[in-house]
Amino acid sequence: MLSREENELLTRIGPGTPAGRLLRRYWHVVGVAAELDKEKPKKRVKILGEDLVLYRDGRGGYGLVGEHCSHRGASLYYGFVEDDGIRCAYHGWKYDACGNCIDQPFESPEVRYKEEIKHRAYPVVKSAGLLFAYLGPQEKKPVLPRWDILARDDGVKKIEVPQVLDCNWLQAMENSVDPVHTYYLHSHTLKLKGDPDHVPFHYQKLNKIDFELVVYPSWAGIQKQRFFAGEEAKVETPHPLIFPNILFVPVRAGYAMHFRTPIDDAHTQIYQFRFRPTDDGKPAADNGDPPVAFLRTKDERGEFHMNDFTSQDHMAWETQGPLADRPAEHLGESDRGILMFRKLLRDQIRAVESGGDPIGLNMDAKKDEVIKLIPEGYTAFEAAQAAMET
Ligand code: FES
Ligand SMILES: [Fe+2]
Repeated sequence: MLSREENELLTRIGPGTPAGRLLRRYWHVVGVAAELDKEKPKKRVKILGEDLVLYRDGRGGYGLVGEHCSHRGASLYYGFVEDDGIRCAYHGWKYDACGNCIDQPFESPEVRYKEEIKHRAYPVVKSAGLLFAYLGPQEKKPVLPRWDILARDDGVKKIEVPQVLDCNWLQAMENSVDPVHTYYLHSHTLKLKGDPDHVPFHYQKLNKIDFELVVYPSWAGIQKQRFFAGEEAKVETPHPLIFPNILFVPVRAGYAMHFRTPIDDAHTQIYQFRFRPTDDGKPAADNGDPPVAFLRTKDERGEFHMNDFTSQDHMAWETQGPLADRPAEHLGESDRGILMFRKLLRDQIRAVESGGDPIGLNMDAKKDEVIKLIPEGYTAFEAAQAAMET
């Protein structure tokens, strides 16, 4: 059982917290490129408890800066986005994407006061229409992982942005090492709703589940295996939890990655990236930024509609409370994956707190290779068979 102190340690991710320091060592999705255009080139975002403004400048570069101006604190969300940065609407101080103050219209240039100002700013990189940011120490910045389904061009891509999840990020992640939840939460729910074949897990009883810690030079996580009743062999599917806050999952006729970005301790924004390989292995016709769909998980009364996986999962996670009361839990044998993930998280927090590096980070830009999460020879057909949209 987890103590109250441990529950706090694993979940709280604001600036200065141990888990916050750990999560800041990884790149996180902070938005989608399609949300920023010439008409509206800026967006207020909260990431890991920090109030920030995400913008696209006139030259097409991205910036992520502290919301409150270093001069007297007005919101840069109301600032003017220019070619080389964002200018505060109050007295016109301008910042570039590195946080340098590059203009102070009412200070005398001889004093060079602007050189003393360093505004909070984080690097942003676009990949397959997703905007990734790094909020950790600059000298520790890892190479942005090149996930295969984001990098490949032989498929159709799509981004889904569900409604904000009103609970702590760890609840979503623990679910990624909880394979038995698919039976009732998804399969049985859909069966009762008249869609018995959507996920036919109720036909095939899971006999055993297994979990394996996998550590590679550029990512690490927990791989899951399922043993179905009546089958000798375990069913190997590429379905890992990628440490600390990503899920890779086979879906109908393709694959998906779910990036779970903590907004603050009690809210999480999930970005679901989908990839459906072309039948002939040739590049897809359109390889621009993928289209974006915004998903509603609740109906007009504010209740979960439970019609799809996303709504069903969000129901389970949110109703555990804004921050799940883990000391009150009663874990069983089927929760082994959750215990394993908590231990992994605790170990990595300790590693960072004692000055070390956590697992799964590539610090060598020369080894910037595409990270293959789909085993050689694994086909979209097999993915469809194994679809388990967790
Ligand atoms: S508060 Fe931003 S320029 Fe003065
Ligand atoms: Fe699920």
